[in-house]
Amino acid sequence: MPIPAIFQGRLSVPVVASPQFLVSGPDYVVESCRAGVVGTFPTLNQRTTEGYDAWLAQIGERLAAIPGAAPFGINLIVHRSNARLKDDLAATVRHKVPLVITSLGIVPEVIAAVQSYGGLVFHDVTNMRHAVKAIEGGVDGLIAVCAGAGGHAGRLSPFALLPELRAIYAGPLLMGGAISTGRHIAAALMLGADMAYMGTRFIAVRESMAVQAHKDMVVQAKAADIVYTPAISGVHANFLRASIAAAGLDPDNLPEAAGAHVGDHDKRPWKNIWSAGQGVGAIEDVPSIAELVARLGAEYRAALREAAAAA
Ligand SMILES: Cc1cc2nc3c(=O)[nH]c(=O)nc-3n(C[C@H](O)[C@H](O)[C@H](O)COP(=O)(O)O)c2cc1C
Repeated sequence: MPIPAIFQGRLSVPVVASPQFLVSGPDYVVESCRAGVVGTFPTLNQRTTEGYDAWLAQIGERLAAIPGAAPFGINLIVHRSNARLKDDLAATVRHKVPLVITSLGIVPEVIAAVQSYGGLVFHDVTNMRHAVKAIEGGVDGLIAVCAGAGGHAGRLSPFALLPELRAIYAGPLLMGGAISTGRHIAAALMLGADMAYMGTRFIAVRESMAVQAHKDMVVQAKAADIVYTPAISGVHANFLRASIAAAGLDPDNLPEAAGAHVGDHDKRPWKNIWSAGQGVGAIEDVPSIAELVARLGAEYRAALREAAAAA
């Protein structure tokens, strides 16, 4: 199964460190790419297109000084609500960003603009309907965001979604959702994915921009401490129970009204109420990205050897 040519020979383990709002920035990206995984960030982690452009320049310069670094990527919200879409896309094209991860919409002009300079567009999907649209739109890869993922998680088990996707799509397929260890990465590949898409594990790393209390909460939490609710951000997403309680809300009695707290200063989704996925249970430390990726690689290869021995 295919890993895109621009990744071949440049990855130490088949992983994308996913784009995370208020978590992934230049250090996260550069250190991921240095360690041999694809580092990414959402354009909206900078407040303006000028700021985004400056980050791209900085990342480009830093990566150019690292021989053999993995390619990097950004996340573009392709939705009418994103007033910066046009300008951020122009900056992306100017800097020839190797990988663009799109969410919330398939817009042919966006895909064409990225492909025009040889960039790849991967689209994240939680169900077959969105996958079919993305394939018809001509994307270069799909990311299956499965149940238990951090952020706007899907509802489908990867055991259900991956085979259905593979039946209609032979291109690059990534899988996300509660992947925290090298053994998990091996399991994703056994299910038919080409690469793993990891978010929550990369919150608790030294180079992430997450506040220390968010990192600590990820380390302390178990899967049962994750609440899947539309009440915080308006769309179903996974949040850390303890951060909901710390904001003065009852995690077991959240208001019916979706996103009721968006404007409330102490109860801001992502900023004060922190997201994480069910993979928190397998996270016990806050290493550097270099240490984490070395460990993931060793665990991944050990899992593959075990599987080969069993066969
Ligand atoms: C704190 C946090 C912020 C996130 N922000 C974004 C984002 O801005 N854009 C995006 O495409 N995905 C975002 N996600 C989702 C991740 O990119 C990814 O789909 C998910 O983390 C994978 O599942 P995992 O967390 O179980 O590894 C976010 C996830 C978390 C935990």
